[in-house]
Amino acid sequence: MDNRFDITKLQVPLIQAPMAGGPSTPALAAAVSNSGGLGFLAAGYITADRLAEDIEKTRTLTASPFGVNLFVPSPSAAKPEDIAAYREALAADAQRFGVELPEPRYDDDSWDEKLSVVRQFRPAVVTFTFGAPDHADVSTLQEAGIAVGITVTTPPEANAAEASGPDFLIVQGPEAGGHRGTFNPTALPSAQPLSTLISEIRETTRVPLIAAGGVATRADVSRLLRGHGVVAVQAGTAFLRAEEAGTKPAHAAAMTDERFQVTVVTRAFSGRYARGIENEFIRTHDPHAPFGYPEVNMLTGPIRAAAAKAGDPDYLNLWAGTGFRSALHAPAAQIVASLAP
Ligand SMILES: Cc1cc2nc3c(=O)[nH]c(=O)nc-3n(C[C@H](O)[C@H](O)[C@H](O)COP(=O)(O)O)c2cc1C
Repeated sequence: MDNRFDITKLQVPLIQAPMAGGPSTPALAAAVSNSGGLGFLAAGYITADRLAEDIEKTRTLTASPFGVNLFVPSPSAAKPEDIAAYREALAADAQRFGVELPEPRYDDDSWDEKLSVVRQFRPAVVTFTFGAPDHADVSTLQEAGIAVGITVTTPPEANAAEASGPDFLIVQGPEAGGHRGTFNPTALPSAQPLSTLISEIRETTRVPLIAAGGVATRADVSRLLRGHGVVAVQAGTAFLRAEEAGTKPAHAAAMTDERFQVTVVTRAFSGRYARGIENEFIRTHDPHAPFGYPEVNMLTGPIRAAAAKAGDPDYLNLWAGTGFRSALHAPAAQIVASLAP
C-alpha cells in the first residue's frame, strides 16, 4: 500500500533493534526516531496492555515513525522430564538467591492480543521474530497502513518469509546479541557470517533487506550499506548502554567489566539459542540445558530477577553481540550520530 512507511527512505539508515526484557523503552525508541533513525519497542514478555501504554507513551515523545516487534509463537520442544531435571539442576542457584522455581507451562506470549494492539494503535512498522506470520496476518497489518518486516537467519527462512508478503526482511547474522530469530528453535543456528548470508539471500529475494548482528562502529554500518545491497542496518547491543535504555544496571556494567571477555551462544537461560556474555550461569548450566522455550525461560526467571536485584551479573542473562565492548554510555542521539554513515 502506497501510504505505508517506506523503510528505504529513512533519514539515517539505522534501526535501533527491539530489545525485550527491559532495554527497549519508549524513551529510547523516541530518541532514536527523533535522531532520524528508526526506534523500536519490544512487545516480548510484556502484557498487551503494557504494549498499548508503551506505544502511547512513545507517541508523546516523538512525532516520527517508530516500530513494534512481536515474537511469533511456535510449538515448544520442551519435554516434561527434561524440564523437571533442569529444575533439579537449578536448585542450588535458587537456594542461593532464596527463590522458588515455578512449574512452567507453555504460553504464546499473548499473540492474538498483541496483534490486536498493533492493528488498533498502528505503529508505522511492525516486525516479527522466531518465525513468519501468516500471509493473512501480514496483509491485515498492511491494510491498516503498517509496514511489516520479518527476521530471518538463513536463505530458506528468507524464502519462507517472503511468501508471507512482508515489506522487508531483517537478516540476522550469528554475531547478533540476544535470541537468534531461527524459525526452528531446536536447529543449531547458522554460523554463516552476516555478509555472506546477505549476499546469498539477496540473490533470491526481491524485498528490501536490513542487516543485523555485531554492528558496533560507523565502519560496520558503512561496509554493510555499501557492499551488500541492504537499505538499513539494525543495531541492538550498541544501544544497551544508552542513557534512555532500560538495561539492568548489572548487565550494562558487565559490558565494560574486564572479568567478562567473550560472548557465547547458549540455551541455558531460555531453552532456545541466544548470544550473551559468558558468565558463571552459562559455564555451569549450558552443558546440560534442555530445549524448551518459553518453559526454560520461565523456569530461570526468578533466579535472573533475583540476580538483577542483587546486582549479580553471573546469574543474569547478559545478552550482547560480539561488538559489545564498543557500546557507548551516552544519549541515544549521540550513539546514532556515532554510527550514522
Ligand atoms: C538485549 C537484547 C534483546 C533483544 N531482544 C529482541 C527482541 O525482543 N526482538 C527481536 O526481534 N530481536 C531482539 N534482539 C536481537 C536484535 O533484534 C538484533 O538482531 C541484534 O541486537 C543485532 O545484533 P547486535 O546486538 O550485535 O547489534 C535482542 C538483542 C539484544 C542484545
